[in-house]
Amino acid sequence: MLIKYVKKSEAKSSEITSKAMFLDRRNFFQGVAITGVISLLPKIVTPSFASPRAKFLNVKKTPFGEAEKPTTFDGLTNYNNFYEFGTGKTDPAQNAHTLKPEPWTIEVSGLAKKTGKFNLDDLIKPHQLEERIYRLRCVEAWSMVIPWVGIPLVDIIKRFEPNSKAKFVAFETLVDDEQMPGQKNRSLDWPYTEGLRMDEAINPLTLLAVGVYGERMPNQNGAPVRLVVPWKYGFKSIKSIVKISFVEKEPSTTWNIQAPNEYGFYSNVNPNIDHPRWSQKRERRITGEGGLSAMFRPKIETQFMNGYAEEVADLYKNMDLKKFF
Ligand code: MTE
Repeated sequence: MLIKYVKKSEAKSSEITSKAMFLDRRNFFQGVAITGVISLLPKIVTPSFASPRAKFLNVKKTPFGEAEKPTTFDGLTNYNNFYEFGTGKTDPAQNAHTLKPEPWTIEVSGLAKKTGKFNLDDLIKPHQLEERIYRLRCVEAWSMVIPWVGIPLVDIIKRFEPNSKAKFVAFETLVDDEQMPGQKNRSLDWPYTEGLRMDEAINPLTLLAVGVYGERMPNQNGAPVRLVVPWKYGFKSIKSIVKISFVEKEPSTTWNIQAPNEYGFYSNVNPNIDHPRWSQKRERRITGEGGLSAMFRPKIETQFMNGYAEEVADLYKNMDLKKFF
């Protein structure tokens, strides 16, 4: 779906994928060599990729973009949260090479006309892909600007024809401690789970992403497919999804189980509601440039709903956001 309108929070899409070239997910990878020196924060690591990097062909440009410069590729692949590969920010880049993103099966279940197990290649076709540059605001008060490649989640959901009882969509990450060695530790309650209310899931901003910078999703960023919900804290953007289910009741979510007073179901970015242990008023933008010092750049103001309020504030118009945090 090509969204034609331009909202306040959007600027012109960058030229990033104009160089994109490729035709079929089965042949995504053209063996483009990893070039450039990886120099970043807080220490230098070599990113892990199961296959050589390559560009997608013909990723549609959309008006979704940022006036801000995107975080460098090295930046967004070397500072990650992916507890399945360790709890440190550089652990995923070092350890995620054990993940095998192909072939990949997603099981769709619950209150829908169509359910079953599907190969990701059959669910998302390369010609459906588009680029959207979104801010990602982590609950830990840092942020990045990321040129995602993906498909609006609504385009996938409607194919399964959820019925009127389906009020929420639940997501699960793979459980396999050989591929995801961090699951040998009980750092979180596996599988990592997340959920959205149906109206959030079908909001045109919500993306099922399969790449960044015109390239297949790096393992450490959630290969082969992850959720991106730009107006919510980053932890809602569940990685390496293997299950999607349409459910009647609000599903339980990993971070809510972990610390219910700190992480609510909604988790909308909101500078007016502090996390119990720190302020959410400001964030550090990780540009990926400038090595270690990038982390210590002055903080910028966090925007209500991460700057996407014009598109999504209506979803919560009758809700007490302090109660439903
Ligand atoms: N998904 C899974 N399966 N496991 C995780 O640990 N971390 C979340 C989210 N999705 C996480 C996850 C958190 S806390 C954030 S901030 C984002 O992924 C980080 O995405 P990035 O590393 O691609 O920037």
